[in-house]
Amino acid sequence: MPTLPTLPPALDEAALQQFTAGLTSQQLVWLSGYLYGQAAQGAAGISGAVPTAALAAPAVAPATQKITILYGSHTGNGKKIAEQAAAAAVTRGLAAEVRDMNDYAPRQLAQEQNLLVIVSTHGEGDPPISAEELHQFINGPRAPKLPKLRYAVLALGDKSYLHYCQTGKDFDHKLAELGGTRLLDRVDVDVAFKAPAEQWVAAVLDVLAGPVGGASAGVGIASTASVGAEIAPITTEYTHENPWSAKVLDSIQLNGRGSDKETYHIELDLAGAGLHYAPGDALAVVPVNHNPLVEEVLQAARLSDTAPVQLGDESLPLAAALASRRELTVLTRDVLERYAALAPHAELHGLLADSARLQPYLYGRDVADLLTDFPTDQLTAQALADTLRPLPSRAYSIASSLLTHPDEVHLTVSAVRYEAHGRRKHGVCSSFLADRVAVGDDARVYVQQNEYFRLPPAGDTDIIMVGAGTGVAPFRAFVEERVELGNTGRNWLLFGNPHFTTDFLYQAEWQQHLKRGGLAQLDVAFSRDQAQKVYVQDRLLENSRDVFGWLENGAHFYVCGDKTRLGHAVHTALIQVVEKEAGLSADDATAYVKNLRKQRRYLEDVY
Ligand SMILES: Cc1cc2nc3c(=O)[nH]c(=O)nc-3n(C[C@H](O)[C@H](O)[C@H](O)COP(=O)(O)OP(=O)(O)OC[C@H]3O[C@@H](n4cnc5c(N)ncnc54)[C@H](O)[C@@H]3O)c2cc1C
Ligand SMILES: Cc1cc2nc3c(=O)[nH]c(=O)nc-3n(C[C@H](O)[C@H](O)[C@H](O)COP(=O)(O)O)c2cc1C
Repeated sequence: MPTLPTLPPALDEAALQQFTAGLTSQQLVWLSGYLYGQAAQGAAGISGAVPTAALAAPAVAPATQKITILYGSHTGNGKKIAEQAAAAAVTRGLAAEVRDMNDYAPRQLAQEQNLLVIVSTHGEGDPPISAEELHQFINGPRAPKLPKLRYAVLALGDKSYLHYCQTGKDFDHKLAELGGTRLLDRVDVDVAFKAPAEQWVAAVLDVLAGPVGGASAGVGIASTASVGAEIAPITTEYTHENPWSAKVLDSIQLNGRGSDKETYHIELDLAGAGLHYAPGDALAVVPVNHNPLVEEVLQAARLSDTAPVQLGDESLPLAAALASRRELTVLTRDVLERYAALAPHAELHGLLADSARLQPYLYGRDVADLLTDFPTDQLTAQALADTLRPLPSRAYSIASSLLTHPDEVHLTVSAVRYEAHGRRKHGVCSSFLADRVAVGDDARVYVQQNEYFRLPPAGDTDIIMVGAGTGVAPFRAFVEERVELGNTGRNWLLFGNPHFTTDFLYQAEWQQHLKRGGLAQLDVAFSRDQAQKVYVQDRLLENSRDVFGWLENGAHFYVCGDKTRLGHAVHTALIQVVEKEAGLSADDATAYVKNLRKQRRYLEDVY
């Protein structure tokens, strides 16, 4: 730390000028960062807010030092932020290296001095696949002490999940436990991550390189706003804030009459969008709430539909804000917390204090239920708008290849409908696509890349695709793409759904592919067509010799569909296949499958 003169007792501008007059530029930079950290410390710890506290770390480091930006990402959000952070770091004179956790040797951690960790959470509070090994390493017995490490964590997540930003929290706690020093408090960002992520990047670079403008920027007045202007925006061409309005070209119910399922094949027009996607990507759809639900919420809140509310710079009538800007179908803990501050019911506070009761309360209840269960006279239109979450988009695996359908994107959407707590309910986005956009209407969309669910780079590699229900969607894209490219690798599809007659999604297309060689093998599991239930994992076990043979021949193995029912069952079945066919112990077979994951040959898209 540079040696500074004694601070004058009265701090006015003249005194400050006098105090700083003899300082070198390095001392000024150090001081500005120090004061920024001190000023920010008061508001620290607000999850999702701008990072504020420059904790124990020295506030500013020499501007030439190297930083490693390590990301663990599944759908690409974290990767994008890491790349933007690196670009911004370079403009601040820092040498920044971006590393994917998947390709990062865990032992290298011991060499790091300045580390930015950007990591999302997937599954049910699990690390993304690419972060699994590093996550395990820092939590294991081989984790090194990290006394030289200064780090900051940006945790990406979604508040509708029970374990919000869990992986980021794990990294943050563990790195501190191993001796690392936080450059900033961890920041947790929800689905609307763009602005807080940009602010986090700006703030962490302030600490590492000094505020923008360095010494000439003046003492201690770094503002994240001024820094933000210098950072390239974290955005792709089409985003949640700037989606493409895609015309609906077709919408077809795929299930036959009498099915319990309601699945739609939806074709959207991309002509003129310049929007590209690869097989494996998902399309994010920005939905609009169902008007009857907006009415129910207004009634339960006893508020006028025309009451004005302010959302950022925009003033809107409450009904319009509820229809298109606020999440109404799903309740999350943070909404209940904010609402409890307005409606201080003892029972509501009791729920918030007891996760075992909170989760069952949240499941199947919507905003109208909350307002009815815990009424209050204190609610204004603005307070309601401020209490609810911004309405997030929903992702749908893309079911088409651009090579087969230039300028189009196809989806396979299951309509979510259920009865709960005395009312019929409809999932906001699936019912928007199923009921509220007709052919000729527009749906607002953008691409969500999925780099961890890609076709093999070599066209002669075999692929095994396991999908149930709408999980078949990306495999339609895979097979179309491979057929168009003339790939010689074999394609094997295992598909499951309840009934052959009503639920064999894209049956005619699969049969054509079988006939023409686009599919080498097709195995189906119609669970309810016989007394004993049969699922895709049973088909894997029945075909264990071929499955193992294909894997040994270098095949890539893909799973898509329901996270709880399919993902785990298929993983277990594959381990059993390896155990049986390779004659391995359960542990060794587990390691074999784990290694497939590591090599990106076992790829999951489960939701
Ligand atoms: C990468 C990815 C790819 C995906 N691909 C597809 C796809 O190809 N096709 C597809 O259809 N979906 C897909 N999904 C799921 C999709 O994103 C949405 O989650 C799904 O459509 C539901 O959204 P919604 O807005 O209709 O429902 P929401 O408004 O989000 O309502 C869902 C909520 O309703 C409640 N709920 C639902 N059922 C019940 C019930 N029976 N009882 C009580 N409560 C209930 C639960 O609280 C649940 O969280 C994918 C998801 C991801 C992350
Ligand atoms: C299948 C799935 C499971 C998820 N599980 C969680 C979770 O348990 N907790 C959480 O906070 N966020 C969860 N998320 C949200 C992601 O962390 C969030 O979308 C994040 O922005 C993704 O960043 P990435 O693209 O870098 O992976 C989940 C997302 C998906 C698609």
